[in-house]
Amino acid sequence: MDLKTGVSKQSDHRWITRQLGLSDANAVIALRHQALKELEHHDNYVMEDDERKFVEDHLGSAGVSFGFYDNGCLVAYTALTLDLCAADTEYEYEHLINRDGTEKWGALAATLVVPEYRRRGIQHAAIKLRLDYAKRCGTERLGVTVSPYNQASLSNLLSNGGSIQGIETYDDGRTRFLIAFECRQKSVSFGIPEQVIVPCHNVNLHRRLLAENYIGKRIINTGVDSYITYARKEG
Ligand SMILES: CC(C)(COP(=O)(O)OP(=O)(O)OC[C@H]1O[C@@H](n2cnc3c(N)ncnc32)[C@H](O)[C@@H]1OP(=O)(O)O)[C@@H](O)C(=O)NCCC(=O)NCCS
Repeated sequence: MDLKTGVSKQSDHRWITRQLGLSDANAVIALRHQALKELEHHDNYVMEDDERKFVEDHLGSAGVSFGFYDNGCLVAYTALTLDLCAADTEYEYEHLINRDGTEKWGALAATLVVPEYRRRGIQHAAIKLRLDYAKRCGTERLGVTVSPYNQASLSNLLSNGGSIQGIETYDDGRTRFLIAFECRQKSVSFGIPEQVIVPCHNVNLHRRLLAENYIGKRIINTGVDSYITYARKEG
């Protein structure tokens, strides 16, 4: 079994990471409920229509999941979809993924940390863990959808190499940034760094810039508001 030890930002604190299996499904479902009781904003994470199916799919057939344990207790978990084209959630990424089958797309499917263990670097570690795993599996790109209100995830994903490449509003009214990671090539190249700064919640402006070949690269939090910086892609 794959065992790793992570060290949190609080130097006296450690967690153990291990790959989860189908027998962990109930523990993961319980953890998801516990984590979703306390959200910084209600839009940050929405339960799946079928929680069990989502969890079990990512414990076997459609992906892989890892648990973070402290003193034997599951305090966080993270899931990776290995092949988006084979998974039910493909529709979320339809404007992002290349449909001609020449690229293998996966997704950072979920990370949930129980409230007492937040801000100790677990999501940061979960992003790195899944990027490494996906690269080893030959995945070329990874997508992830994030609420414009989810400051923690936006900050973590953009600072770990993700870039905003789309924005979608679904039938139920939710808006999500589409963030992509390149697993193979180092990064998208930019011409003259023409920077545009957009308030996180100005959906129309994000949409316009993305249509004009801009990519969201960084988040700036002023303490009052947060902004995404965009740069224009080459070509
Ligand atoms: C979002 C979530 C996974 C973050 O997990 P976490 O382990 O607390 O995140 P990390 O400790 O790795 O965060 C590292 C960095 O992210 C940023 N960050 C974390 N929490 C933040 C917050 N509440 N506001 C702004 N930035 C934040 C900071 O830059 C932080 O570094 P710092 O502590 O040095 O400032 C966790 O809050 C959670 O489970 N939320 C509910 C479910 C959810 O939203 N899942 C993700 C869906 S995309």
